[in-house]
Order: sequence, then structure tokens, then C-alpha cells
Amino acid sequence: MITEHISLKNLNSFGIEVRAKYFASFADKNSLEACLEDASKLNQSLSLHPLILGGGSNILFTRDVDGLVLKNEITGIETIGEDDDHVFIKAGAGENWHRFVMHCIEKDYAGVENLALIPGSVGASPMQNIGAYGVEIKDVFHSLEAYHIADKKWVTFNKMECAFGYRESVFKNKFKQQFIIGAVTYQLNKKPVFNTSYGAITQELETMQVTKLSIGAIAQAVMRIRSSKLPDPAVIGNAGSFFKNPEVEAAVFEKLKDQFPGLVGYRLDNGRVKLAAGWLIEHSGPAKGISWKGYRIGDAGCHAKQALVLVNYGQAPGSEILALSDAIIQSVWQNFSVRLEREVNIV
Ligand code: FAD
Ligand code: EPU
Repeated sequence: MITEHISLKNLNSFGIEVRAKYFASFADKNSLEACLEDASKLNQSLSLHPLILGGGSNILFTRDVDGLVLKNEITGIETIGEDDDHVFIKAGAGENWHRFVMHCIEKDYAGVENLALIPGSVGASPMQNIGAYGVEIKDVFHSLEAYHIADKKWVTFNKMECAFGYRESVFKNKFKQQFIIGAVTYQLNKKPVFNTSYGAITQELETMQVTKLSIGAIAQAVMRIRSSKLPDPAVIGNAGSFFKNPEVEAAVFEKLKDQFPGLVGYRLDNGRVKLAAGWLIEHSGPAKGISWKGYRIGDAGCHAKQALVLVNYGQAPGSEILALSDAIIQSVWQNFSVRLEREVNIV
């Protein structure tokens, strides 16, 4: 059922107060198609350009939504197949991502433990190719089912067709706003391949005095690290990393490193270097001697423990958080000639 003038404040992790002119939620494929049918009766263009909302944890609303917001509530997790080494698990796109991770750990299916505690929905996981602590969705992805809005038909995408990149997929680029992801199938390992290459995990496991490595222990370590530096959206509004870590040529990195010995960068397989945007932001600021890290203007701010995370302390409108991000992009450019790109979807 389509309702009107609905507040989205509790449906986005920044806690921004905006309204949707039209709003509906769907809990299965049929009700999604029915919602779009109802919308087309109100206005043809409404049904063609809906804004799909999962957990709202990677969106910054800067204005009211003049069209239709559709909240994905398709839940359910089922094992749909297996071979000697793998289990294939299909989950509804509206399923909570962390709940899905915990389900896999309970069943002893390995592959997603490093992605514990990432907010949001299963459906957005391939959209964003979510990643943390050395693992990305592409590493465990099998296929997904998505509804083509204009053609009114369900299509299956395999891994190659999703064109995954760093926080990228075909759904953010070539097929932007054309598909609604309804379900995702993951290929998990029966025998775990532990990934503790991300330094902080090994350290945390030692602090936890873990003697026998397990996927549960890795998930616990990841959850402890995350909780220690990322703000909980239930307490302080945020959408995780606001910017991506920028990639530069190795020569550019070397030159910067000579000038700024503290600069943090990670060499990639393609020879380029990924710079820690958090470091660049921490070492820039609104004025000489002032860092962006911990900076606050009105209710918009840059988190004191992680400069890559912009926050809403209460009543900040999205436009103020966007303006702060513009100022940060500009000052990082002035200091380091490196252009930061936003990770968060701006509406
Ligand atoms: P939403 O914000 O609802 O949507 C994001 C985008 O996907 C929007 O453009 C939306 O229209 C589209 N979309 C959503 N669902 C569908 C669908 N079913 N079909 C089509 N389009 C859809 N991300 C990481 O990768 N790694 C991290 O470590 C990480 N840590 C975070 C920590 C915090 C505290 C927070 C708040 C966020 C973090 N994020 C992280 C970002 C966020 O959790 C992910 O991007 C997550 O996948 C967003 O899911 P969502 O359901 O909330 O997406
Ligand atoms: N750093 C600073 N100052 C800061 C923050 C970071 O100097 O204020 C430097 C530190 O040297 C630190 C390094 O940056 O060692 C990396 O920091 P961190 O390990 O916190 O990771 P990140 O690069 O800031 C990325 C992802 C996160 C993901 C973590 C762990 C991006 C844009 N962000 O953050 O994903 O959880 O690694 O893998 O790639 C997200 O996408 O929303 C997100 C939170």
C-alpha cells in the first residue's frame, strides 16, 4: 500500500529528517510488482524511478524525496545447494546483513566472518561490493536475482555480470537505478580459509587470548575492533566511511611519502597504491593547526576516532554534512593534490 508524506528519519543511519512524497514497503516479489503497478496508476514516472531503501546506512539525504521510496523487506535465508567444498545460501534482499553473517557462523559456513557488524541489508551487499578486514562480497558471491523496472521482469546475474570493483558494481554504474535486487546467493566454504591478514585482527585475537582459531573468533575480533572506532548509528548518526580510499600511481605515492613520511598507503596487485583517506583528512583541516578529525560545525562533524566517518550529532540537515564533505575534499586536494571521492550515495 502506498502512503504519502512519510518521514525517513528512522530509515537512514545518518538520522536525517526528510520526507518521502510516496512510500511503500514490500515483503516478497509479488508485493514489489504490485507496489510498482499501484505507483504507475498514480503517475507513470513514479513507478519507473523509485528509490530503493535497504537499511539506509549508505545514504545521505540532502532533500525531501519528491517521488516513491520503496523499502525492501524481503527476508528469509535458505540453503539451496552444496558440493564437496561449498554451501550455497540464498537470502532475501531485505534480510539484515549482520543477522545473515551470524546465521552462517552458527551453521559453521565460512567466508563472511570478516564482514560481521556491517550495517544494512543483504540486497545492498553486492550493490556496494561491501568489504572489510581483507574480504569483499565478490569473494563469496554466487549470483543474484533482480527485477528490471522498465522491462518488468526478473533477471539473474552471475559474478562476472555484476562487474564488482572497490565499493562498485554494475548496479551503481551502467545499470544505475534500473534494477531492484530481490535475493542474493552466496557460495560459502565448508572448510574455513581463515583470513587474518589484516593486522588488527591478529592483534585483537591475541588480546582475546584465542588459542584455537575459528570463524566465530574472527567475527568476535572484527566486532571488537569495529566497535572501538566506528560510531554506533543508534547513538551518533553516520554512514560509515564517507569517502573511498583513493588509488594513486606508485610514483605519486613515493613523492608524497618523501614529503609526508607518516602517510599511510597499501600497495595493490596492479602496482598502484591505495592511500588511507583517514590519514589525509586527519592531516588536513579548516585552518592552519586545526585538524578535520574531531571537527564540528553545528551538528555536522568529522568523527574523533576515525576521520573517514562524517557524523550527525543530532539535527544536522544533509546539506550541511554534504557541505562539510565538500570542504574536506577541497582541503585534502590543496594539501596533497589527491582528489577524494565520496562512497556514500547522495540523494
Ligand atoms: P542503503 O543505504 O539502504 O542503500 C545503499 C544504496 O543501495 C542506495 O543507492 C540504494 O538505493 C541501493 N539499494 C539498497 N538496496 C537495494 C536493492 N535491494 N536493490 C537495488 N538497490 C538497492 N560498508 C562497507 O563496505 N564496509 C564497512 O566496513 C562498512 N562499515 C560501516 C559502518 C557503519 C557504522 C555504517 C553506518 C555503515 C558502514 N558501511 C560499510 C556502509 C553500509 O553499511 C553498506 O554500504 C551497506 O551495504 C548498506 O546497506 P543498506 O541496506 O543500508 O543500503
Ligand atoms: N587513519 C588515520 N586517521 C584516521 C583514520 C585512519 O591516520 O582518522 C589511517 C590509519 O593509519 C589506519 C588506516 O588509516 O591504519 C586505515 O584505517 P582503518 O583500518 O580504520 O580503515 P579505513 O581505510 O579507514 C576501510 C574501509 C572500511 C572498513 C575498514 C576495515 C573504505 C572506504 N573504508 O576503512 O569500510 O571497515 O577499512 O577493512 O574502504 C565503509 O566502507 O563504510 C567502511 C567502514
